[in-house]
Amino acid sequence: MGEDNQRESLIDVGNNLVNKEIIDINSIKFKRIMFLYNAALKEIKTKIEILQEELNLFSNYEPIEYVATRLKKTESIVAKLKRKKCELTYENMFERVNDIAGIRIVCNFKSDVYKLVELIENFQDIRIVSKKDFMKKPKKSGYMSYHLIVEIPVNFSSGIMYVKVEVQIRTLGMDFWATLEHKLKYKNPNILKSESKNLIKYAKIINNIDDNMLTISNRIEKEKNENIMIEATENKEDLGEKKIFFKL
Ligand code: GTP
Ligand code: MG
Repeated sequence: MGEDNQRESLIDVGNNLVNKEIIDINSIKFKRIMFLYNAALKEIKTKIEILQEELNLFSNYEPIEYVATRLKKTESIVAKLKRKKCELTYENMFERVNDIAGIRIVCNFKSDVYKLVELIENFQDIRIVSKKDFMKKPKKSGYMSYHLIVEIPVNFSSGIMYVKVEVQIRTLGMDFWATLEHKLKYKNPNILKSESKNLIKYAKIINNIDDNMLTISNRIEKEKNENIMIEATENKEDLGEKKIFFKL
C-alpha cells in the first residue's frame, strides 16, 4: 500500500516534465528540470561530505582531497543531444544526457578511488545505473578516472524522484592531467599530433607516479599498523579503541 503510494507520486512528479515535447530553454519547465538536477547535486554532495567526515572521525581515514560539483550549461546539454543525433526532447534530455548533474571526488591514492566506489555502491538509498573503470582501461586519449552513473532519491512535496548524477572519482594526479588536457585538447581541435602524443605520454608518467606514491603509502601504513599491534598487545586496555581503527 505504502509502496504503491510512493510509485504514484513519483509518476506524478515525473510525468509533467518527462515527455516528447521539444525543449524550450527559456520555459519554466526547463527551469524546473534544472531545479531537479540541482537538488540531486546538493543531496549527493551532502552524502559524500558526511561519508568523508565519518571516515575521518571514526576510522582516521582521509581518502578524499576535495569534492567539486557542477550543473551542465544549457548550451552544452543541447550540444550533447545534437552530437548524439537525438531529437531535442525533454525525454531525451533525461534519458540520453547522463551528466547534467556532475560530482567529482578527488582522492589521494588509486586504492582510495576503489574504496570510495565500494562505499558509494553500499549506500542503501542510491541506485547504480552504470560503472566505467577508465583506470583499469584508460581512454585512447590517456584519460584515467572511475565513472559511476547513479540515481539519487530526492524528496519533493509530491513524492520521491530518482535523479541521475555522474560521479567521477580519481586521484589528484589524474585530476591534474584531465584538467589541463581538457583545456589543451578536449576543447581544442588545433592541437598538434605531436602534442597529442605527448599528452598520452604524460598520462602514463603520471600513472607511474601514482603507483609509486601508493607504494610509499602502503609501506608507511603497514609499519603504522604493526606498531599499533605491538602497542595493543603490550597494553591490553587500549585494544577496544584500536579495534575500531582495524576495521577499515
Ligand atoms: P561525453 O559525451 O564526453 O560526456 O562521454 P560519454 O557520455 O561517453 O561518457 P564518458 O564516461 O566517456 O565521459 C564522461 C566525462 O568524462 C566527460 O564529460 C569528461 O568530463 C570526462 N572525459 C572523458 N574523456 C575525457 C578525456 O579524454 N579527457 C578529459 N580531460 N576528460 C574526459
Ligand atoms: Mg561530460
